[in-house]
Amino acid sequence: MRTKLNKILHHEKPEVLLHQTVTVAGWVRSIRDQKSFAFLALNDGSTFANLQVVIDSDLPHYETIIPSITTGASVQIVGEIVESPGKNQSIEIKASEVTLIGECDPATYPLQKKRHSFEFLRTIAHLRTRTNTQGAVARVRNALAFATHKYFQEEGFLYVQTPIISGSDCEGSGEMFKVTTLDSKETDYTKDFFQKPAYLTVSGQLEAEIYALAFSDVYTFGPTFRAENSHTSRHLAEFWMIEPEMAFADLAKDIECAEKYIKYVVRYAMDSCPEDLNFFDKFVEKGLLEKLQNLVGSPFEKLPYSDAIEILAKASKKFTYPVKWGLDLQSEHERYLTETHFKKPVVLTDYPKEIKAFYMRDNDDGKTVAAMDILVPGIGELVGGSQREERLDVLEKKLEKHNLNPEDYWWYLELRKYGSVPHSGFGVGFERLVQFVTGMENIRDVIAFPRYPGHVEF
Ligand code: 4AD
Ligand code: MG
Repeated sequence: MRTKLNKILHHEKPEVLLHQTVTVAGWVRSIRDQKSFAFLALNDGSTFANLQVVIDSDLPHYETIIPSITTGASVQIVGEIVESPGKNQSIEIKASEVTLIGECDPATYPLQKKRHSFEFLRTIAHLRTRTNTQGAVARVRNALAFATHKYFQEEGFLYVQTPIISGSDCEGSGEMFKVTTLDSKETDYTKDFFQKPAYLTVSGQLEAEIYALAFSDVYTFGPTFRAENSHTSRHLAEFWMIEPEMAFADLAKDIECAEKYIKYVVRYAMDSCPEDLNFFDKFVEKGLLEKLQNLVGSPFEKLPYSDAIEILAKASKKFTYPVKWGLDLQSEHERYLTETHFKKPVVLTDYPKEIKAFYMRDNDDGKTVAAMDILVPGIGELVGGSQREERLDVLEKKLEKHNLNPEDYWWYLELRKYGSVPHSGFGVGFERLVQFVTGMENIRDVIAFPRYPGHVEF
């Protein structure tokens, strides 16, 4: 039976493994033929490290087999676990059987060179998964996704699935992909598949609210889509979002939940992926581990939007977008606050209602809404959330102000008519979370198959 490499390389007591015979399989990271023996570095993706395999030239067919095993080839090895005399590893495998499973032509295999630019690797997304960086990203992503479910399940939230094809624009900004079976010249929606306009969802929030008003605490974790023509290192056209929604919860409770959630998943990643995070700390973002440690170890800074505007107005830094009350904060402002001014995660609250979505609850000042954004160093906005407007009459007026048709939101309004309760929720951009935890600079490198303007390979 095949043993995964993490079970060998991260065994609690490696000494008990000594002299056991195991079968391992994976892809060759490198092979060095020293004539009397060969060193093969094997990786199967289960962990960051490679397993060193020593193949003695006594092995039958050594001369024919070794030249056929090249970087990228897949192999199966049977061998004995022995102590390694080398300084880079404590154990290695002394091969007794070597089988080439899939050859890999060294003349054309693109992953020959040790280091490639992330830009180049994006053009070979079908192979970049075999690089150190993408391996580490995939494992940290896995840890963060698993920890997300673990956190909300432990907190008593119900995991719900909201639709991907949606009839409404949650964020009201019109940045949606249309879903249609009509040919491009047809404009009569009654002839369309759903007999009305349909889109890929930008957020599961509105449907999550339906669930929350029956089950109290729920969360979704699914793909969302934005047809905005953004070419930044923090925007994707298809990204994953975690969206909890809580009934009988105000904005303070929303913030508390979000802060606790982020700290929980970051700590989980630190505990379960130390090797991957060490790699990122060393080669991708110097000081990453310290940044993560700081995040889990101290409270987030919390202040109203109005106070943030004052800080920005007094800053000596020149911003491209001039600072005044009412400004929709740009990434430059968000990053100044979290990276330069506070040097830690910042929760901004009570934004001007003009710049926020229709569903956010009006504050009594008549100017702001019960919104919160969490900003983190290196990224800017990681979380967007709010207390929802639960008062029917106020919500009706807000729809009108946002030029949205109340008929399209009849069901959303009915939730305010029948047993309405104060409720809150937020959305975490999963790829931005992965970016933050790995220190990866471009969001296109933390999702295996990134979709952005002009790019939809596979
Ligand atoms: O701030 P947003 O637009 O909020 C919502 O969609 C709410 N309905 C969420 C809720 O309250 N349930 O998006 C939430 C988060 C952002 O803070 C950001 O991290 C991420 O989603 N995000 C994106 N991530 C990658 N690419 C994009 N184009 C993103 N747009 C938003
Ligand atoms: Mg937002």
